[in-house]
Amino acid sequence: MSHEKIEKNVGLMGILIAVAISFGGLAEIVPLMYQAEAVEPTPGIEPYPPLQLAGRDVYVREGCYNCHSQMVRTLRFETARYGHYSLAGESVYDRPFQWGSKRTGPDLARVGGRYSDEWHRVHLINPRDVVPESNMPGYPWLEKTRVDASAIVRHMRALKTLGDPYTEEQIAGAPVAVDGKTEMDALIAYMQALGRHAPRPGASPEGDDPASASASAGGAP
Ligand code: HEC
Repeated sequence: MSHEKIEKNVGLMGILIAVAISFGGLAEIVPLMYQAEAVEPTPGIEPYPPLQLAGRDVYVREGCYNCHSQMVRTLRFETARYGHYSLAGESVYDRPFQWGSKRTGPDLARVGGRYSDEWHRVHLINPRDVVPESNMPGYPWLEKTRVDASAIVRHMRALKTLGDPYTEEQIAGAPVAVDGKTEMDALIAYMQALGRHAPRPGASPEGDDPASASASAGGAP
């Protein structure tokens, strides 16, 4: 088929362009599906315990990702502010992942342990009580809503079907684990777990990494 023929036929050209682009896409995506680094959990990363899983559901439902990313990039100013850059293996149990790119507020991938539970509680009820210039909305109703235990059991079952290594005991114990807890408790448990198993600032899974050498986990937002 001559080149001219293809160029004069918009439909055919469209199809061929789509085919060409798909090959490029496949060449990028398929190897990732088999790379241990991307599909195996980073040491310490396990499926979310019931209360944290419930908190993650609240995070997704309330759309926190509209203002917060959960991915520290490999840039020095990011690692200096937040800590070690994010690794693919940290997100293997995140369905869907919460990496995001919108940062009206700070990245939250390393926020676990940065503040007390009480700070989070006050902040989530009314952010301006602790950060006067904040434009984050308050979520006071989370204090008044109980975690739905049966929903968490179903959620854990679904994740197990997808391959997350939950044991039957863990699933059976979920109602007790979330008993009497509010959605606020759950969300705080989730926040406090974020990034807890991240490599130490300065450490690198691939060897020396000057970008994160001077990183510090502390620092105000
Ligand atoms: C409209 C945008 C917006 C939304 C939606 C939002 N936030 Fe924020 N968030 C911010 C801003 C801006 C800050 C920085 C000021 C502050 O600390 O309040 C912030 C700060 C935070 C911090 C402190 C981070 C740090 O390192 O200091 C946490 C934790 C947090 N948000 C959690 C949440 C959670 C959980 C939700 C969903 C329930 C949420 N945010 C929804 C804008 C938002």
